[in-house]
Amino acid sequence: MSSSSTLRVRLLFFFVCCCYSVFVVFIKRVDAAAPKGPTGNVSRVEDAEYFHIYYGQTFKVVKNGVDGKSYLLIQDNTKMATRTKYCTGRIKSFVVPLFNYSIDTSDFPGFAVSFFELLGMVESLKAITSDSITSECILKAYSERNIEVVNKTDTEKLSHFTAHFVSNSDGQQLCNFATFLPSEEDAPLQRAEWIKYLGAFMNQEVRANQVFDAVKANYMCLMNSAANRTTSFKSVVAWLQYKEGIWSFNEDAYKLKFVTDAGGENIDNTIRKNTYNASNPEELDELHAILSTVDVVIDETYAGDPQAYNQSTFLDNLKVEDGSCFSFLTDQNLWRYDKRMRNPSSIDWFDSGVSQPQLFLADLLEAFFPTGNYTTTYLRNLAKDEQVTSIIDPQKCNRESSQPMEPIIISCQ
Ligand SMILES: *[C@@H]1O[C@H](CO)[C@@H](O)[C@H](O)[C@H]1NC(C)=O
Ligand SMILES: *[C@@H]1O[C@H](CO)[C@@H](O)[C@H](O)[C@H]1NC(C)=O
Ligand SMILES: *[C@@H]1O[C@H](CO)[C@@H](O)[C@H](O)[C@H]1NC(C)=O
Ligand SMILES: *[C@@H]1O[C@H](CO)[C@@H](O)[C@H](O)[C@H]1NC(C)=O
Ligand SMILES: *[C@@H]1O[C@H](CO)[C@@H](O)[C@H](O)[C@H]1NC(C)=O
Ligand SMILES: *[C@@H]1O[C@H](CO)[C@@H](O)[C@H](O)[C@H]1NC(C)=O
Ligand SMILES: *[C@@H]1O[C@H](CO)[C@@H](O)[C@H](O)[C@H]1NC(C)=O
Repeated sequence: MSSSSTLRVRLLFFFVCCCYSVFVVFIKRVDAAAPKGPTGNVSRVEDAEYFHIYYGQTFKVVKNGVDGKSYLLIQDNTKMATRTKYCTGRIKSFVVPLFNYSIDTSDFPGFAVSFFELLGMVESLKAITSDSITSECILKAYSERNIEVVNKTDTEKLSHFTAHFVSNSDGQQLCNFATFLPSEEDAPLQRAEWIKYLGAFMNQEVRANQVFDAVKANYMCLMNSAANRTTSFKSVVAWLQYKEGIWSFNEDAYKLKFVTDAGGENIDNTIRKNTYNASNPEELDELHAILSTVDVVIDETYAGDPQAYNQSTFLDNLKVEDGSCFSFLTDQNLWRYDKRMRNPSSIDWFDSGVSQPQLFLADLLEAFFPTGNYTTTYLRNLAKDEQVTSIIDPQKCNRESSQPMEPIIISCQ
């Protein structure tokens, strides 16, 4: 590396790592000097809290605010691309658009691979670390041997892809590893906006903006239509989970936001913090009392066999024989989000439910304001004995895997 490029590296490090405001000013100057803008294609982050993209003329910097890592993305047709290679704890460089990439799909609840499909980037996907994914078209490409399964521990092999995306910032990080952490955001649209993060690695800003705009417009329309539905009282909703003998309420911010956006009301904050030991009669009594005030339950209990999990399973865990004192049972409002799955550890709600939150919002609207006229995507109603109906099958892929997937737009007036 020549000393002038080393100097440039130092300067860049200074700007990127030490002082973002200076960096932004620097970028703005670069922008002003270049009449056509940096590359022409830019994504502006509107909703997400935990990532930023800065544009230079021949490079961009994607900063992941969850784990503090920055990715310097250098355009492949520039001198900088041949000269520059960084790999430190905080900054790595990649030449873009990525020539190829692999994804770590083996962590539960999984990597939201649907973001890549929406971008139309499946063609350059070369490897996954597990076939426990819920994308029909990626599974089809896998079965046609365009994609291979590489053992997660085979770092030698993984190091040869231009980039390897991981959904977990722990663990060993090679120079080509890039983290993708949409699930850390606190609101559904913030999570969906991470399509722009991936788009930057593929020079697919235009597509990323287009998908996000469509998803957001549909989400907002559904949210407004929920706000317009007046009922005397909003449905009180509880996200509930049973694990190792303990019942608890879930308070993930994005789940609570989904509920309020769909026109429901979350069970009170002071109640959510408690846990209930099912072997302790007093705690169980208290839980039963609280649940008798709840209108809608979303049961998130992990099931080794989701197809066998029904209302009886839920009631057994709750140690209740007859559910007649619970209005969420008499009014038939006991739901699970495992309707679309491939196997117990790959449930599509954790994948396309992140990239297309409008679909889950529409499901919740049907739960809170039933029309009986809408087929839910993810939710099945245990109280109506609805089954896991959509077993993901590669044969259902209805497009060429090189074609981008279009987001599904729910009818909304
Ligand atoms: C991956 O490799 C590790 C160590 O080499 C081995 O223990 C493990 O069984 C392999 N996993 C699979 C799914 O083959
Ligand atoms: C992926 O791209 C790299 C260059 O970044 C290349 O060396 C490697 O052979 C490619 N791998 C596959 C499987 O195409
Ligand atoms: C800009 O976007 C267009 C349309 O998506 C794409 O074809 C082109 O490669 C992009 N160019 C750069 C430099 O990002
Ligand atoms: C909600 O109500 C407002 C005011 O009545 C109306 O302007 C708007 O179009 C409605 N939105 C939807 C999505 O129904
Ligand atoms: C639940 O209560 C039972 C009986 O009191 C006790 O044996 C068990 O350890 C408790 N479980 C937890 C996780 O606290
Ligand atoms: C629930 O499933 C169990 C076994 O899988 C079955 O015995 C039971 O009849 C089912 N209950 C209902 C209400 O369908
Ligand atoms: C059900 O949906 C159809 C088609 O979207 C519509 O024509 C009909 O009015 C709806 N019925 C109710 C009860 O909402």
